[in-house]
Amino acid sequence: MKPDRDAPVGVFDSGVGGLTVAREIMRNLPSEKIVYFGDTARVPYGNKSKENVIRYSRQIIHFLLEQRVKAIVIACNTASAFALDEVRDEFDIPILGVIEPGARVAAQETKNKKVGVIGTEGTIGSGIHASYLKRLNPEITVIGKACPLFVPLVEEGWLHDPVTVEVVARYLQEFKDKEVDTLILGCTHYPLLRSTIGEFMGDSVRLVNPAYETALELGALLKKENLLSPGKEQEEFPYRFYVSDLADKFKAFANSILPYDVEMTKKIDIEKY
Ligand code: DGL
Repeated sequence: MKPDRDAPVGVFDSGVGGLTVAREIMRNLPSEKIVYFGDTARVPYGNKSKENVIRYSRQIIHFLLEQRVKAIVIACNTASAFALDEVRDEFDIPILGVIEPGARVAAQETKNKKVGVIGTEGTIGSGIHASYLKRLNPEITVIGKACPLFVPLVEEGWLHDPVTVEVVARYLQEFKDKEVDTLILGCTHYPLLRSTIGEFMGDSVRLVNPAYETALELGALLKKENLLSPGKEQEEFPYRFYVSDLADKFKAFANSILPYDVEMTKKIDIEKY
């Protein structure tokens, strides 16, 4: 059965970070309803094996299908890197990740053909950005670096703290030395560090936010599949949030970054799926 246009979009992540993607969908596709799942019991994914991240992703997709979503966005960069190619053809609805949209824009934007990518150990270790970018333009040199301290700093709310400014400088100096002109913020949390990273890298370096590019790509995909929502005016709760642990902590973070107050988050047993 083809999902109806009124159905919500499913968005999932290892935890709270994917809210940066949900936020862009809310801003750019305001008629779309969202069912968000944050795997707060098993976060982080960034240092887990590929096998586990694929297993988690499949379970979450089964849960989202039960919520009758019409399309799924894998908001987590690590899950997109490890699981998208594995699961995309297993299910009957469109599934989109965050890696390709970011890589495509980076390939268009770079002038000197030196692109930097930052992300989790899993994402960078997968080499997936390099393979997309090289496919788009073999002349592009890709420099990747895992920045594992960024996630806890963001979750601590230290977006402009002197400690964070120092950590940004330590991680990113290499990109300055290698003169990249484009840097992909390849992890859900990094768009929240955009101004701190931008101040360090300077105006000449283009920062690519995959969350934003993915929201645009989702819009194009829904249009192509004739799945764009006709409107959500009548809906009392257009956005629903589910987690696998600690719903209150999730809610506090969500309220700090979303443009509206999250009333309710429901905890579910994801191992059941
Ligand atoms: N959501 C993850 C990502 O975008 C970051 C947090 C984690 O390691 O789970 O890769």
